[in-house]
Order: sequence, then structure tokens, then C-alpha cells
Amino acid sequence: MNLPELHTLIWDELRRGASPVRSPFTIWQLATLGLDGAPQLCSIVLREADESRHTLCFHTDLRSPKLAEIRADERVAMLGLDLDRHLQLRLNGRANVVADAVRIGRMWSGARPHTLILYKTPHAPGTRLAQPDEGRVPEQGSSDGFENFALVEVVLERIEMLDLTPGQHRRARFEGGQGQWQGQWIAP
Ligand SMILES: Cc1cc2nc3c(=O)[nH]c(=O)nc-3n(C[C@H](O)[C@H](O)[C@H](O)COP(=O)(O)O)c2cc1C
Repeated sequence: MNLPELHTLIWDELRRGASPVRSPFTIWQLATLGLDGAPQLCSIVLREADESRHTLCFHTDLRSPKLAEIRADERVAMLGLDLDRHLQLRLNGRANVVADAVRIGRMWSGARPHTLILYKTPHAPGTRLAQPDEGRVPEQGSSDGFENFALVEVVLERIEMLDLTPGQHRRARFEGGQGQWQGQWIAP
């Protein structure tokens, strides 16, 4: 496989990860820079992968500390892993909170209700609770949660693939300045 073919394959995996069918690249580990400078990691569900714009998208709570982190420093890293295929994808990019109301509304309407229920909770993520069930979503009288729903877009700048399939270890890096991806094989 040559580098352009590998690049196409990676974007196929990203699109598959963002599709409603679960894949090894549905869930990613997202690293942000904490406000104190320490790294922060969390899991996110990939919701969109747009090769033409080099972007990925995920949902989050507008009240989440990770949004303050992204607003303070837009640099993020993401890691995805397909254990069965010994395949690791490492991504770097710049995150921004989507402001386009039409796009946010479209994403909200297209999401499954059980996904959106989290946004109805009256407490911001990370709020101290006296009891674990204080964080439960009220059954009645609450809003639909749309006011807490945020969409984050990551503009990718670097994609790295590591394939540790026995007998054929390969690692490649693609860097994407100015809309052009430059690929390079590198030592695993
Ligand atoms: C399987 C799984 C999927 C998750 N998906 C998301 C997600 O798409 N967006 C999100 O904000 N948090 C998601 N979370 C929760 C985050 O990992 C994190 O715990 C939460 O967002 C609180 O982070 P914060 O302290 O930065 O607000 C997910 C957690 C798990 C276990």
C-alpha cells in the first residue's frame, strides 16, 4: 500500500467511526490542555468526519470544563485504537466550538434521544454532589437540554497511523498545512 492509498483508508476509518454503526474508531481519547497546564484526557464519540475540510466533530456539554480549556488553548490530540487490527491512529488539531446555529440544530435533531438526555441534567459536569443520584436527570419539568448542547469541531493538522500487525510493522505521518496532506513513512 502506498501513502495516498493509506491516507484514503484512514479517512474511510474516520468516516466509519463517525457513522451510527459502532466501530473501533467510534470512541476516541481526547487530550486537551488543562487550565493549569496539566494534560487532560477524556473519551468522546466521533460524530462527523469531513475529509474535504479535514475536520472531525463531537458533542459536548456547553458547561464542560473541556470547553474552557479549548477556548484557552485550541490545541488538542486524539487517539483511537483498533485492537483486533493492531492499528493506532493519533491525531493533532485545533478545536473550536461551533457557532453556526443551523449546524448545531441539525446535529441535535439527528441525534438519538438517549444521547441527548445527558444535556438535561441541571448540574454542570464536574459539579460536587452529596449523593450520586443527585446528578440524575429530572423526569419532568426540565427543558430538553438544547441550551447545554455544544458541537466541537477539530481541524486536523496531523494524522499518524501505526500498524503493529505481526510481521509488517508500519508507521506513517500525514501533515496537512494549506489543505495539502504530505505523507511520510516513519520508524515505528
Ligand atoms: C463511552 C463514553 C463516551 C463518551 N462520549 C462523550 C462525548 O461524546 N462527549 C463528551 O463531552 N463526553 C463524553 N464522555 C464523557 C467524557 O469522557 C468526560 O468524562 C466528560 O465529558 C466530562 O469531562 P469534563 O470534565 O471535561 O466536562 C464519554 C464517556 C464515555 C465513557
